[in-house]
Amino acid sequence: MQQPLIIANWKANLSPGEEVERARSIAQIALERGLSAFNGIDTPTLVLAPSAVGLVPVASLLQREYGNLAIEVAAQDCSAEGIGAHTGELVAANLVGIAASVIIGHSERRAAGDTDSSIGRKIAHAAAAGLRPILCVGDATQSAATEARVPEVVGQFERATAQAAAAGWPLDRLVAAGLVVAYEPLWAIGSHTPATPMDAMAVARGIQGAGNGLAIPVLYGGSVDAGNAASWCDETRGQADGALSGLLVGGASLDPRELLDIVGAATMPRR
Ligand code: PGA
Repeated sequence: MQQPLIIANWKANLSPGEEVERARSIAQIALERGLSAFNGIDTPTLVLAPSAVGLVPVASLLQREYGNLAIEVAAQDCSAEGIGAHTGELVAANLVGIAASVIIGHSERRAAGDTDSSIGRKIAHAAAAGLRPILCVGDATQSAATEARVPEVVGQFERATAQAAAAGWPLDRLVAAGLVVAYEPLWAIGSHTPATPMDAMAVARGIQGAGNGLAIPVLYGGSVDAGNAASWCDETRGQADGALSGLLVGGASLDPRELLDIVGAATMPRR
């Protein structure tokens, strides 16, 4: 099992210049707080996901000035196509050396046209480029019972990974390539009403059950903030199954101090 991940999804909220300044503040606060080794046993890896135009300046700032912090960069999406005549596409192979991972199938990308088929091909291209695919899945109805939500989300996972398998990347190879699944209920995104840790664990169990015994890390995302971050980690830590491997944070990740508070909450078990 890989280290826990805290992923900051900045979406399209900032200009590239603001993203560089945000990344600099985050790195400085991490240094102030002595979080110079995110890669310890229990400490999460911090991953910043700037906009497509912010990827290069943010990655070069971190590589040039803060290489010792091991803060990673992720793209928020990549193309379902490979290198070639695809005007306007962000091809996974071209992210090598800039990003370490790619968020794929976020509900905001699904609403803009992503399908199981395109998501499967994006996953395959990301893995082929040596990037960690972060596959987002999520249910649409808050009032649905857990028993109904889990199959909806597991179905998304199974369809996307079946499409990746058809593109040459069966699940066992994807897991070896670092596949991570982020459970993000649509109704919890940006709503200040997160799912409960118990529901997230039920989904994680479902995904892990569908993974035929493969160790598939599952993150939770949706209205995570500094006030509730610890609950995810505390309630699921040490569980035999269904444990969460980190958090995907949207709105709260725009505030550098709050983001570092979330990293801290995920690092230090409450006693
Ligand atoms: P949120 O967004 O933390 O603002 O709810 C999460 C996401 O969409 O990734």
